[in-house]
Amino acid sequence: MSDDVNREAGQRKYAVFGNPIKQSRSPFIHAEFAKQTGLSLQYRAIRVELDGFERAVGDFFKVGGSGLNVTVPFKEQAYQLASRHSARAIRAKACNTLRPDGEGVYGDNTDGIGLIRDMVANHGWNLRGARILLLGAGGAARGVMEPLLRESPACLVVANRTVAKAEVLAEEFADLGEVKGQGLIDLDAELPFDVIINATSAGLKGETPTLPETLLGERCCCYDMVYGAQPTAFMRWAAENAAWAVSDGLGMLVEQAAESFYVWHQERPDTASVINHLRGSLAAA
Ligand code: ATR
Repeated sequence: MSDDVNREAGQRKYAVFGNPIKQSRSPFIHAEFAKQTGLSLQYRAIRVELDGFERAVGDFFKVGGSGLNVTVPFKEQAYQLASRHSARAIRAKACNTLRPDGEGVYGDNTDGIGLIRDMVANHGWNLRGARILLLGAGGAARGVMEPLLRESPACLVVANRTVAKAEVLAEEFADLGEVKGQGLIDLDAELPFDVIINATSAGLKGETPTLPETLLGERCCCYDMVYGAQPTAFMRWAAENAAWAVSDGLGMLVEQAAESFYVWHQERPDTASVINHLRGSLAAA
């Protein structure tokens, strides 16, 4: 047996399941974390058929897989499949991190903490006492509601194109703080915000929700949960309206990966060097 085969046989196996999955940066990120911490592991990006998620998870753990990340469109299915959940996964009703748990599967969700770490630790933004506006009321928005409210903002306004979805979401999290759901079209009447987060999928089509410029407070920080080589339409809108700080979601991607890494290995990798590396490769692409 060659050294490579020997090394592979001793490695713990991890993967990210999604569809599509080609663009996933997770194998790179986890390989960097493994290098830093001296762990020997294998991490692959695997495209799973839309109707084959449950079977694929079962097979992966049956052959000795140690942990899975789950991305679009399987996070809700991952939640249904898990037999035990972290408190944050129960709030999100979605899982992006799985590991075997006796006969079953343990499900966690690291997306929300990833966003908070990027905004607070990496960018130095203040959420305590802030007026926060969250745009969108789909899965991405739901996943960050609890961690945002745990930061004790003055208020969290969820604004969505479909008003009822924002209202339902706000009601569901009302036990955690001052939270209100409303339509995007009613934002004209709102006072300015300190932090605006885009959790809509409008950016996938190069669009941004139509927003009044009066939404930006004096030192308003604007965050788009997606990222790309170029600033998103929402980021451009923020910059054009003199936002104090603007960020895409690249840091959130790396921070959620670091938290998954911690869930599996109980080690905290350094994220800054990995964010910088990815930023460089995006710019060069
Ligand atoms: P995700 O899991 O990424 O959150 P989702 O659950 O399909 O995906 O939710 C997409 C979110 O983006 C929704 O809040 C959606 O608004 P609706 O609930 O009204 O559909 C929002 N969205 C998508 N395209 C949008 C657009 N062009 N303008 C405003 N909001 C948009």
